[in-house]
Formats: sequence, C-alpha cells, structure tokens
Amino acid sequence: MTLDVAALRDEFPMLSRRVGGKPIHYLDSANSSHKPNCVIDAMSTFMREAYSPIGRSSYALASEASNAYEGARSKVAGFINAYSPCEVVFTKNATESLNLAAQSWGRANLGKGDAIVLTHMEHHANIVPWQMLAKEKGFEIRWVPLTPDFQLDLSSLDQLLRGAKAISFTSMSNVLGTINPTRELCEAAHAAGAIAIVDGCQSVPHMTTDVRAMGADMLAFSSHKMCGPTGVGVLWAREALLDAMPPFLGGGGMISEVRLDDFTCAELPNKFEAGTPPIVEVIGLGAAVDFLNRVGMTEIRRHEIEMTNYAYRALTARYGDAITIHGPTNPELRGATFSFAFRDVHPHDVSQVLDQHNVYVRAGHHCAKPLMRIIGANATARASMYLYSNEADVDALVDALDDVSSIF
Ligand code: ALA
Repeated sequence: MTLDVAALRDEFPMLSRRVGGKPIHYLDSANSSHKPNCVIDAMSTFMREAYSPIGRSSYALASEASNAYEGARSKVAGFINAYSPCEVVFTKNATESLNLAAQSWGRANLGKGDAIVLTHMEHHANIVPWQMLAKEKGFEIRWVPLTPDFQLDLSSLDQLLRGAKAISFTSMSNVLGTINPTRELCEAAHAAGAIAIVDGCQSVPHMTTDVRAMGADMLAFSSHKMCGPTGVGVLWAREALLDAMPPFLGGGGMISEVRLDDFTCAELPNKFEAGTPPIVEVIGLGAAVDFLNRVGMTEIRRHEIEMTNYAYRALTARYGDAITIHGPTNPELRGATFSFAFRDVHPHDVSQVLDQHNVYVRAGHHCAKPLMRIIGANATARASMYLYSNEADVDALVDALDDVSSIF
C-alpha cells in the first residue's frame, strides 16, 4: 500500500503555512522534521491536564506522569525491538547520546595503545566526541574510506578492526544519503572483538529499525528528526554494556545512595538520566512513535524510494550535467536526501534563490567537514524528504532551479 500523502500532510499544520501568500516546500527533513497534530496535542494535553514532575514525588499525579513517561520509554523500546525498556536512555539529543557513549564507555575502556574505527561519512557528532577523548587518552582513530560510488570501502575493514575496541558509524549519511550495511559492520566488529556503535539519526526516522537483527551494541538517534519534538534523544545500548558503563552526568535521579565520601548509582536506565528529564518531550516522542507505527515504517521507506526515483529523474532530465548529485544512484542503497552542486553556483546562493520560491533546503557543510573535503566540495545544497514530501515539492525545487540558472 502506498502512502496517502495528501491525507498525511493534513496532519502536519506547518505544511499548510504560506509565506508571502504562497505554499511552502519543506525539503530539510534530514535536518529536522515537522510535527503531526497528534504529537503537538499529546504534549499540550499533557502540560494542560496531566503535568507533574516524575520519579520523585508520590502523589497521584506524579505517578500518573511517571507512568506516561515510562510508557513512552516502552514505546521507543518496541519501535527499535530492544530487549528491554531499561536499555533506552533518554538524552537531550543524539549528539549527547554519542557524547555519552564516548565519555562513559570510551573513557572507561580506551587508553594509550588502543584504537577505534570511524568512517569518512561521519557527522561531527560522531567524530568530535571521540577526538576530544583521544586527545586526552592517546588512543588511535582509524578511518573507513569511501568508494568512488559513495559507499563505505570495506575492503580493508578487517585490517582496520584488528585490535580495535569499537567501530562507531552512521547507518545513513546525512550528506550522501548512503545507507550503510549495518549488520555486516556489526558482525565484522564482533568478529574482531570490538563493539559496534551506530549513529541512527538519519535511518531510524525513515525505515524499520531492529537492534537485535542489526546486532548493534549501541544506537543513538534524535526525536526531532522522527516527527517528535526537539530536546530529547535516545541512546539504546545492550543492558550488560550499560550496566558496566560508569555514569556520565551526576546529580539527582541517577543515584541510589549518596554519602559525604561516595555515591552509588541507581538501576538502569535512571543511572544515565541525571536531573529532571525532558518529560513533556518524551511524551511527545512516545506520540511520534505511535504515529510512525500507524503510518508504517515499511510504507514510509517505500514512499521515500519512490520520491528518490522521482527526484532523480526530474533533476537529471531537466539539468543533465549541470547538476551533480553526491551520492549513490540506486534508490535501494540510499535515503531521500540529495546533496547537490548546481552549475558553479555557490550552494548558499542556490538556497537563497530557492528560498524566494519557498523551497527550503539546507546549504553548507552539513556538520560533516571531513566528508565534504573528501568529496571535493566546500559546501553543498541539500534537499531531503520525508513521509510527507510529494511530487509538488520536487517539482517546485526543479522549477526554482531555473531561476538560479537565470540569475547566475
Ligand atoms: N544533522 C542534521 C543535518 O544533517 C542537523 O542537517
């Protein structure tokens, strides 16, 4: 069954916004997605009718709110097929999740003489936390390079993994759209005695995620890219791993005992949730998970493959060699995220002209400066789609590029 995109779009109030009296074409969902009414309503109803601090107080409303918060954790656990809700840690965003992995697992396990493996496709959020720690601890960072067709070059993976303690990689590039062979990478890591940490920011919102089938040890992702609110991210990790990891942030909520000379940690997942958590945002994320389940992750993926095909054909039919799309051409191997160069026009100029047509794309380095250098670009314009994107959005992009041609 193909998605009823028109009906879905009606559930997203922002998509009916007009700017200058004209409709908008939102093509920046890899950056952040819009929110359906059910998410907005769940958050405002909770704040209006059921808000209470959680986990600390014992009155009726506090238990009700705690149950709602833990209910959302169970929904998230189900969404990624976690073994248990206690493996789901709520953070501020995926960046914090990856910092947690580095500062907790990494700090406890990596030192001089050790190595970890990253890839040339990583977002800064999966590079800088490891570099910060490596500067202090003196371990080596090794890099999986790219093939000319924008895949990971796995020909030397076994060699790179030899003696490494972890590989941390994106499941889908936020620049190229490349979907990486997550399971294969996790298996290779385990065969080498390393753990596998997956940055799932760009894949979790767009396709079925099954941490058991994937064989990952940790998975980081953000709510705001999957129809949920900003302010909450997730770090999933295997229970045994989380159990062995020291806490990251200290404070209330993460302890079972504190004395003047020491403290002991709370059980999972509280051990990693210091301070008042993003309660309202977690409720919103739970509603987003319900929404995505209702729409169907398989259908979302199918729709995005169709949109990828449509956009590829439309852009290359109109512009041929004048447009360079950085990323795999096979839609089965990529998500619906298109980074492109248009003639020799600077991407910021491209995006400025597109903006005049209410076509919203991101231009810049996309927080992946090493990758940009490798593909030989300072910046790209990037159009990225989601379950609510339609042919009209792509047509508007293609037409607005004509204006870029005529201005520059
Ligand atoms: N990582 C987000 C993006 O690629 C912010 O746009």
